[in-house]
Amino acid sequence: EMADSSDDDQRQKPHAILIPYPLQGHVIPAVHLAVKLASRGFTVTFLNTHSVHHQISRAHHNDPTDDIFAAVRRQRSLDIRYSTLSDGLPLSFDRSLHHDQFMASLLHVFSAHVEEAVGRIVGSPDSRRVRFLVADTFFVWPSTVARKFGLAYVSFWTEPALVFSLYYHMDLLRINGHFDCQSANCRDDPIDYIPGIKAIEPKDMASYLQDTDTSSVCHQIISSSFKDVKSADFIICNTVEELEPETISALKAVQPFYSIGPIVPEGASKGTVATSLWAESDCTQWLNTRPRGSVLYVSFGSYAHTSRADLAEIAHGLRLSGVSFVWVMRPDIVSSEEADPLPDGYKDSLGGGSIIVTWCSQFEVLAHAAVGGFLTHCGWNSIIESMWNGVPLICFPLLTDQFTNRKLVVHDWKAGINLTERREITREEVAEKVRRLMNGDSGGLFRDNIREVKKKLAGALMPDGSSVRNMDQFVNDLTNKID
Ligand code: UDX
Repeated sequence: EMADSSDDDQRQKPHAILIPYPLQGHVIPAVHLAVKLASRGFTVTFLNTHSVHHQISRAHHNDPTDDIFAAVRRQRSLDIRYSTLSDGLPLSFDRSLHHDQFMASLLHVFSAHVEEAVGRIVGSPDSRRVRFLVADTFFVWPSTVARKFGLAYVSFWTEPALVFSLYYHMDLLRINGHFDCQSANCRDDPIDYIPGIKAIEPKDMASYLQDTDTSSVCHQIISSSFKDVKSADFIICNTVEELEPETISALKAVQPFYSIGPIVPEGASKGTVATSLWAESDCTQWLNTRPRGSVLYVSFGSYAHTSRADLAEIAHGLRLSGVSFVWVMRPDIVSSEEADPLPDGYKDSLGGGSIIVTWCSQFEVLAHAAVGGFLTHCGWNSIIESMWNGVPLICFPLLTDQFTNRKLVVHDWKAGINLTERREITREEVAEKVRRLMNGDSGGLFRDNIREVKKKLAGALMPDGSSVRNMDQFVNDLTNKID
């Protein structure tokens, strides 16, 4: 009898289905979000694609039948369930090399798989209480799927509110001639008409908003997903109110928007959920041998590519600077078809002074006392993790939101510098910027500024902090809506 009633209680907890975008920088914050929601008493079913699941299993030498949440579920007795579905392409398909086809499959095929999977979970006898769908803002189907199954739709935005707002006001940009214009007619003066956004230069917009050809699959995804998000019941964002107050309050005036960041691994969940898509090298042992604050960490994230020429200049510049570094060199950094993108003999020339790895546990590396700077492509997760650990940045944006993120870091928070002001990178400039960040007096200034940002992030997660209050509010509003 007792067991039965507690079983019933279990079933009565509101149940969410959470679907991350099947890319590394989206899966990581979604995993931490799942843990956050489950810690608040929700049941969460996390739906990964087969492809992401298999890549994680392979990277961590796990049995492919293992569930990535097994350890955290056991340790913290959270009700997180895990399931997988097809993204519409065979497992062997090279999603990095044929990126447009991958995106096309997500645009045109994935929704059918999602409907089938959500229908299966909603209809299974032990999940009567599925009440809401949490899905990445970049999906084009959430409000349709949510409506079909009578669920509330919570849109999860993994980038800053500033980027969200620019996409959200795409039509305004278009009418004003800042977006979707013929290159000769595109305005290049600052954009000063979006609610909550102080004048911003066109070059600081997401790369997609700077494109003059808007016929690609990515543009179709962005325009459909930002139509869809207008029907979201709630929007939750991995940012902090104190970092972007005006932008956030303007968004809150038009839709329920909650800043709940920084979404970083917390407490016991840290390290217990495997999220990396590539095998991690251990850098800690090597870092332990280096002086405090002496090492530059270099990574361009999970997704963007660099040109071979830029990569070579960066490589030479790093060596010229004389600063030790840990460089994450993803196998497909130039293209998955290139064998070794580095100049001949480069690796051997480093001796033991610096190391190059394929992938690492970035959060651990940034938290290590030996790391004193980060040369980054400005992915939002990287910026959050760096600020959280008080590490100043050299910014080298490549794609998508990274240009806007760079603007926040360099212009608004003064917590870093640009790698270059020009199109072409030279090794001399790379060396000069690295030295300036790591050794110069200005390095100290950035460190002071980043400490201020770090205080805001930590403050937001204190018991009475803004993100904790926003999370409470979200849980309240959501519970009222679905009850
Ligand atoms: C892109 C967008 O630019 C970003 O703003 C968006 O939120 C996600 O997609 P991505 O290239 O994946 O970003 O970079 P980033 O957002 O920085 O995320 C990369 C993640 O991979 C970080 O959480 C980082 O800690 C992790 N990582 C990276 C590792 O664990 N090991 C590594 O070696 C490199």
